Amino acid sequence: MYNSKIIGLGKYLPSNVVTNSDLEKIMDTSDVWIQERTGIKERRHIKKGSDDSTSSMGVKASKIALERSGIDAKEIDLILFATLSPDYYFPGSGVLVQDELGIPDCPAMDIRMQCSGFVYALATADQFIKTGMYKNILVIGSEYHSGGLDMTTRGRNISVIFGDGAGAVVITRTKKNDEGILHSQLHSEGKYAKELSLIGPNTGRWVPEIINKNDPNDVSYFPYMNGQFVFKNAVIRFSEVIMKGLEKAKWKPSDIDMLIPHQANLRISQFVQKKFGLSDNQVYNNIQRYGNTTAASIPIALTEAWEEGKINNGSKVILAAFGSGFTWGSITMKW
Ligand SMILES: CC(C)(COP(=O)(O)OP(=O)(O)OC[C@H]1O[C@@H](n2cnc3c(N)ncnc32)[C@H](O)[C@@H]1OP(=O)(O)O)[C@@H](O)C(=O)NCCC(=O)NCCS
Repeated sequence: MYNSKIIGLGKYLPSNVVTNSDLEKIMDTSDVWIQERTGIKERRHIKKGSDDSTSSMGVKASKIALERSGIDAKEIDLILFATLSPDYYFPGSGVLVQDELGIPDCPAMDIRMQCSGFVYALATADQFIKTGMYKNILVIGSEYHSGGLDMTTRGRNISVIFGDGAGAVVITRTKKNDEGILHSQLHSEGKYAKELSLIGPNTGRWVPEIINKNDPNDVSYFPYMNGQFVFKNAVIRFSEVIMKGLEKAKWKPSDIDMLIPHQANLRISQFVQKKFGLSDNQVYNNIQRYGNTTAASIPIALTEAWEEGKINNGSKVILAAFGSGFTWGSITMKW
């Protein structure tokens, strides 16, 4: 049986920075409100007319991850692409990345688990490596939110939070069972599916029906979030799943070199940090600069933490996520 370990990481953020004061000009919000409630100062939005898309951002992040891994794209055995904002309704974005990278016929699978998407994808990749089925896997998280947000006061509780971007990692097998991904735990609770969702268009209400109605009050094609309910569940589930990871790895909170929480809200990260008695050096946050990029947030933060020298050989790292579904999960790994 093999373990899997990350051997290359990359990120891509669109160049267009949207500050809180930019948002003040188009909706009734304020820099103070956004920073106090979420910690966010700015985020990236793909500029209209630019070539960036969910898959192209994934490709750019992947190219960096591949180069750093020393593995040629053609050696990739599987692509897992986590997103809630795929380029098309179908097919998924994984096959578009495969084509762009010139990988002939490896499987390319999309993972639709929203903010927990990257953790789900990495845990899935790990299983394929553990069984020996595949050797090298490319795992991507990429999101293009900005084009689909309600950028009016009506949608402000959501639209100020989300941003665009992508992160990717290359994982490979190792025979050492004390390095790489040690444990993963995944959960979901479908009874809260609609508390953070985008329900229209759907297979009960197809696009032509929505277009034909042309109802200005129809907000079903914008994301909906029951913010306080999501917040309360997030702090509970983050804490539980980090605790499970610690127990399985037989680590104490003080053993953690780097916790990378999904960047949902700085207040959620700070709550978790306090609960486990972690120092600022043990937790990585970049939501201030990028907002919540859902499935991309963990690989972007992981890449930055690694680039900044905060993750090194032997570092004990925990990834933890919570999001729409509800879904949540964590991964413990030794770098
Ligand atoms: C979204 C969130 C920041 C809102 O913060 P909150 O403290 O719960 O705020 P509320 O939704 O209760 O709204 C409080 C007030 O602020 C207003 N408000 C909402 N968004 C606003 C904005 N962008 N700017 C200014 N005011 C805003 C509301 O209209 C409300 O006004 P009222 O009291 O006059 O009715 C918070 O609920 C949150 O972070 N939830 C979790 C989000 C999350 O993690 N999502 C991703 C999961 S992966």
